[in-house]
Amino acid sequence: MLKIITCKKPNQSVNERIEQLVTRYGLCKIERQSRDDALVVTRKGLALRVSGKLMYWHPGLLHTLREARTRHPWVKLGELTKGDRVLDCTLGLGTDARFISEITQTTVVGIEQSLEIYLISEEGLQSAGANIDVRLGHSLDFLKQQKNHSFDVIIADPMFPKHLLKQSQNLSIVRNFASFQTLNLTWLDEARRVARRCVLVKDHIHNDLLESLQAEYIWAKGKRSARYGRWQAFERK
Ligand SMILES: C[S@@+](CC[C@H](N)C(=O)[O-])C[C@H]1O[C@@H](n2cnc3c(N)ncnc32)[C@H](O)[C@@H]1O
Repeated sequence: MLKIITCKKPNQSVNERIEQLVTRYGLCKIERQSRDDALVVTRKGLALRVSGKLMYWHPGLLHTLREARTRHPWVKLGELTKGDRVLDCTLGLGTDARFISEITQTTVVGIEQSLEIYLISEEGLQSAGANIDVRLGHSLDFLKQQKNHSFDVIIADPMFPKHLLKQSQNLSIVRNFASFQTLNLTWLDEARRVARRCVLVKDHIHNDLLESLQAEYIWAKGKRSARYGRWQAFERK
């Protein structure tokens, strides 16, 4: 069970927030002197403590996505335009979802399976003013509840296998708390049913996820570590 603790000198709003989180998510409140890894309620917001180090939500490489804008594979392969409805099945810190919501100027729905990442991202994205509807859960469960063709584009950026992650990622929130489950053909079939235009999945250049999911088209460029697969949505009957 996720442990939760307040910062050393909590004020009233910190005390209220911890009670709210304990009640809502059934978290285990621990003594203030404890040094265990835990979710920490600070005056600056939520943080995750790992081996004594506090990690806060951050916008990731949003600036590089903004620079690429229409040249970015999410936009190019998804043919994203204003008004499109997009579902992000692997929200993480929400960098991609936030970028896409700026392109579409609509609310992006983002699903995150890890409670720790969900809590940090929900708060961080809200305080950054991001237009994202953040949901906790497994994206396959969410997809199963959706009607056919209810999102224009569905994206997923699952974790790269651990051996392909850079050393510098060892101290990241995502590396420490993410679900490393891979996507499978059941997930893909559901995503293609729920999509109106296409499904896009990001993968590592040295991984074989796109091949195992039989991508219809693969975008890769030079020595970039990321590549993207595209599948057409299932036809409307
Ligand atoms: C590589 S990160 C995504 C980063 C994200 N694209 C961003 O821009 O911040 C993958 C995230 O997806 C989550 N995840 C993995 N499988 C999932 C699933 N089936 N449903 C929901 N979230 C999932 C992981 O916990 C992790 O936070």
